[in-house]
Amino acid sequence: MSPDPSHLAPATAALLQCSDAERIAAMREERWITYPRARHALELLNDLLARPRTTRMPGFAIYADSGMGKTMLMERFRRAHPASFDSAERRLVTPVLALQMSSHPTERRFYGQLLTTIGVPFAPRATILDLETQALRNLRRMEVKLLMLDEVHNILAGSAKEQRIMLNLLRYLSNELQISLVCLGVTEARQALGGDVQLARRLDELLLPRWQGYEEFQELVVAIVRNLPLKERSQISARALRQVLQLTDGLTASIFSMFNALALEAVASGAECISDESIAAWQPTSRAAVAFA
Ligand SMILES: Nc1ncnc2c1ncn2[C@@H]1O[C@H](COP(=O)(O)OP(=O)(O)OP(=O)(O)O)[C@@H](O)[C@H]1O
Ligand SMILES: [Mg+2]
Repeated sequence: MSPDPSHLAPATAALLQCSDAERIAAMREERWITYPRARHALELLNDLLARPRTTRMPGFAIYADSGMGKTMLMERFRRAHPASFDSAERRLVTPVLALQMSSHPTERRFYGQLLTTIGVPFAPRATILDLETQALRNLRRMEVKLLMLDEVHNILAGSAKEQRIMLNLLRYLSNELQISLVCLGVTEARQALGGDVQLARRLDELLLPRWQGYEEFQELVVAIVRNLPLKERSQISARALRQVLQLTDGLTASIFSMFNALALEAVASGAECISDESIAAWQPTSRAAVAFA
């Protein structure tokens, strides 16, 4: 074993004390890894959360291809701002509420989903107005400041009229409760939100393009490798990094899976590090391993 685990993040270095089976199990678990681009996005969201309430709350629209890490980012932020119990008033104070737009969102479905997410029972036959009143009352009581909506492109599944109704609803919620909206989706989501100019204007766009170039991508790889519990330090050249970009099409999900699979191989072979050679030897057949990594 390398006497010096300084090539690893502290929590990962601790895993070197575990058996191979335990290290493999740890690698197979989905875990959050912070890389500079994600850190920047989280900082922007933190700034948004700290803004004082106004009648026109700013927000974000986060657009990226499928597999670029939007949902991971949303979950990470939500977990960083958990609900707390206010015992004096016997209520849960929930600064960040996150939900995924259903495949064909309508007012009724949306309010139903909101109420289910916050654990408020509602009558199946309740009118939309009842659901809205109940949702608004509860969100106010919970002091929700930021509402995160994943898969907002699903709005496009509705008719033109349904789309307008959904966008009006979002703008109304934001105005009425003075909350910020953070909408996440694939590029088509821009078209969906563009249907309401007032709403779209309030949302700053944050794009997470596919990885390319060198510096930013290298930072991502450094972050990933620091979190893979391998005993030896991995040395990866710029040329090998370019190969990774080609093999993964610059997609975050594929990059994480590829490194995970390479790390599993490195444990199995005893090499205990990822190298230019192991990247060069990466075969399409090894991609099957990606699916299980
Ligand atoms: N910060 C991260 N740490 C660890 N793994 C990550 C991270 N970001 C992304 N991944 C990996 O990439 C995969 C895809 O991420 P995610 O589901 O967030 O993408 P997405 O942009 O929401 O895609 P879709 O539009 O298809 O929903 C995750 O399952 C995970 O394996
Ligand atoms: Mg997602």
